[in-house]
Amino acid sequence: MSKNFYITTPIYYPSARPHMGHAYSSIVADFFARFKRIDGFNVFFLTGTDEHGQKIQRAAEKNNKAPLEFCNEISKTFKELSKTLNLSNNDFIRTTEKRHYESVQNLWNILEKKGEIYLSNYSGWYSVSDEAFYLDNEIEEINGVKKSKTSGSPVEWVEEESYFFKLSKWQGKLLDLYKKNENFILPRSRKNEVISFVKSGLKDLSVSRKSFSWGIQVPTNKDHVIYVWLDALTNYISALNYPNTKDSLYKNYWPADVHMIGKDILRFHAVYWPAFLLAAELPTPKRVYGHGWILSGDEKMSKSKGNILDPLEIIDQYGLDPLRYYLLKEVSFGNDGNISKEKLISCINSDLANNFGNLCQRVLAFTEKNLSLKVPKPDLFNKEDLNLLNNFTNNYKNLIDYIDNQNVNLYMNFIVDQMFLANKYFNDQEPWKKKDNIKRLSTIIYTSLELIRKISILLYPVIPGSSLKVLNIFNIKEENLNVSSIKNNDFLKPNQKINKIQILFNKININD
Ligand code: MSP
Repeated sequence: MSKNFYITTPIYYPSARPHMGHAYSSIVADFFARFKRIDGFNVFFLTGTDEHGQKIQRAAEKNNKAPLEFCNEISKTFKELSKTLNLSNNDFIRTTEKRHYESVQNLWNILEKKGEIYLSNYSGWYSVSDEAFYLDNEIEEINGVKKSKTSGSPVEWVEEESYFFKLSKWQGKLLDLYKKNENFILPRSRKNEVISFVKSGLKDLSVSRKSFSWGIQVPTNKDHVIYVWLDALTNYISALNYPNTKDSLYKNYWPADVHMIGKDILRFHAVYWPAFLLAAELPTPKRVYGHGWILSGDEKMSKSKGNILDPLEIIDQYGLDPLRYYLLKEVSFGNDGNISKEKLISCINSDLANNFGNLCQRVLAFTEKNLSLKVPKPDLFNKEDLNLLNNFTNNYKNLIDYIDNQNVNLYMNFIVDQMFLANKYFNDQEPWKKKDNIKRLSTIIYTSLELIRKISILLYPVIPGSSLKVLNIFNIKEENLNVSSIKNNDFLKPNQKINKIQILFNKININD
């Protein structure tokens, strides 16, 4: 039976320069995609850019560019970022593509035909920066400027003819959906926020704008463009060739297994998106996970606040894998995470350079010197060897559960423990003192090599580049990776040739 898994990142607003928050959202999604692939799933992992709406139109004007020209340039930087972050996405969708236009207009037509959309007038608050409508009670005034209480973005008063989606009608069905699918919204704390928002009463949602033109036209009224969130959310099915619901991509991958998003856009994904889909009689996604924010000095990292840690600079300076490792290990997943260069450096030095990197170098150097770079034939494993080797077998099911429940930190803690234990094992066993007991020496080295192999497989979703460098010593290639092989204690074959290892991680001087 083939197992399919569909995971998405949000599609990014092409802002001038991607920041660490953007990088984080993509890296966590890539982590899950990669794990599921090595667990035998056919994974479809989607990312892209969200290019319509007033925010982009204004940004283009500010840059003296036509909107599409502006988007072409900036979308490219996000595409490049996905390569720089070593994302394993299967597709990169742009909302300015023809396939997406057709998909959005089709969804609109269905909603209109079903009587879910009607023409009226909107008057109320709108934040261009969030591309969101806000109610009076969601606004506060600070120093004479009206702002959204939740995002802090300035709002402006809008009065114009607009189409409305009958969101209020779906209140009960949405509450049923949250009740029936306990894990539809994760983490739990955020689920409660969404439920109380829906319970407090939903108003019909304005889904078109008339005062600007940068968007997808309402098919039945050329004076209106479709609200950018209805447009953007549809990307998740456009990439699967919707409206062709018979297409194999759509059939295999919809409904999505997880929409991985930041908590700031939870309402759009957990309320509006399922309501649109319910109204169109399309299946709703299985899960929406709203991760926390990356903070810098206790504030959300964002361009307007000027507190951006530039992912490209960090990668240039310290490398990609250290950054991926740091973000996945040190941010408590689901919560906000305060990051700093100092913490990044100490994490690289302690876990990657001193611990795992050092273990690999020492075991390999020993094998080269004493065993001609060949896997030795182990004798009987003793209790200490087996304790460590079997940790993986015994925790295999837990690891799968951690991933399925988006428990990134438990997964990372397991790896950190195993790296520490393997290092300690090699030190305590002192193979360099056992040169006259070749059977024991061989067993210790065999065990150490097996531990390195198992740990590297688990590290693959976290630091794919470095993990593959290590696995290459055993000639294990990416296409043959299989997480279930960590249950196997005799995967490596005696006499098998071992390739030399390249330097994995450099220790960083904090003053550099
Ligand atoms: N275009 C919309 C998403 C449409 S999805 C149909 C959007 N784009 S965004 O570029 O502003 O944000 C993209 C992702 O980055 C979101 O998940 C957002 O939560 C995340 N982050 C932006 N700043 C962030 C932090 N400082 N920290 C963590 N993630 C944050 O929203």
